[in-house]
Amino acid sequence: MLKEGFSKALLKWHFENARVFPWRGETDAYRIWLSEIMLQQTRTETVKGYYLRFLAAFPDVYSLAEADESRVLKMWEGLGYYSRARNLLKAARIVAFEMNGKFPDTADALKKLPGIGDYVAGAVSSIAFNRREPALDGNQARVISRIYNVKDVIKTPAYLRAKALLLMPDTDFGEYNQALMGLGAMICISGRPKCEACPVREYCDAYLYGNPSELPVKMGKNARKIERRAIALVFSKSGVLMRKRTDPLLEGMWEFPGFTDAKSAEDVKACLEEMGVYASYQGKAPNHKHVFTHLEWHMTGYRFTLESGGEEYAYLTAEDIKNKAVPTALKPYREEAIRIIEEKENEA
Ligand code: ADE
Repeated sequence: MLKEGFSKALLKWHFENARVFPWRGETDAYRIWLSEIMLQQTRTETVKGYYLRFLAAFPDVYSLAEADESRVLKMWEGLGYYSRARNLLKAARIVAFEMNGKFPDTADALKKLPGIGDYVAGAVSSIAFNRREPALDGNQARVISRIYNVKDVIKTPAYLRAKALLLMPDTDFGEYNQALMGLGAMICISGRPKCEACPVREYCDAYLYGNPSELPVKMGKNARKIERRAIALVFSKSGVLMRKRTDPLLEGMWEFPGFTDAKSAEDVKACLEEMGVYASYQGKAPNHKHVFTHLEWHMTGYRFTLESGGEEYAYLTAEDIKNKAVPTALKPYREEAIRIIEEKENEA
């Protein structure tokens, strides 16, 4: 099963490769909370020193709760995002004076404290209290998006959270979360992930079927969905097969058949057969990319010769095509089709 295999392989890798941090193996909620607040927006290498100095000054939640804000801010100097330090002090005072010095032991209760959001609540409740909660920071979100090959920008954090929970094992939640963070920091990095060294690549849909380096698709106004399309150029004796688009996108324009779920020449051939077009494969045509506002087409061309069927489609000559409205996205393939038709005419 995906879940068991994944977490077993991940934890094995984690125990063999885990980085050494002063908060590793820690079980005290105060210390874990402090480290996760610091780690939220600051690199691990920088946090190490601050964490140790902060604990030397404020070894437990009471010593922090009783401190002056100015002293806490001074200890935070250079870490940035100073509202973290102010909220830290507010939360420490609540825990010390209203909760008998005991941190709440569930994610929901932790989130009621100042400065604790979904990520820190997940991290602290899983690491300190062994609760089955994901700790979805940017790192975990990137790993989860790749494991499930989530290409849709419409997907929300709630969707990723559901996927993260689905993948989570039934024990060792804190170690598992830290292993996933380590994987995201060392292997499953943004941009160019190190899939060749990844202990869980056999479970990764983006590795197996997609492109991990293009994930996750970022939220925001520039985010675009990426659609891989196979474009079929089917030549008959009289011209190249085209049809009128009926999709709301580019409706009424003329296109070469395009298939989003075809990944090989055999797939394209099968898709053509579903259209009643029986054709023999001749070779690839160039790849092209087209960028729409909310969508990118990453296209691969495949050339075919019509053998039989396909009577209901148009077969356009080089001259015909030039007079049809063709989406800009497909114009490189129109040029390619014209070139091939003219080449054949010259041969004849
Ligand atoms: N980044 C955020 N939390 C972390 C942790 N507990 N260990 C390593 N890196 C982290």
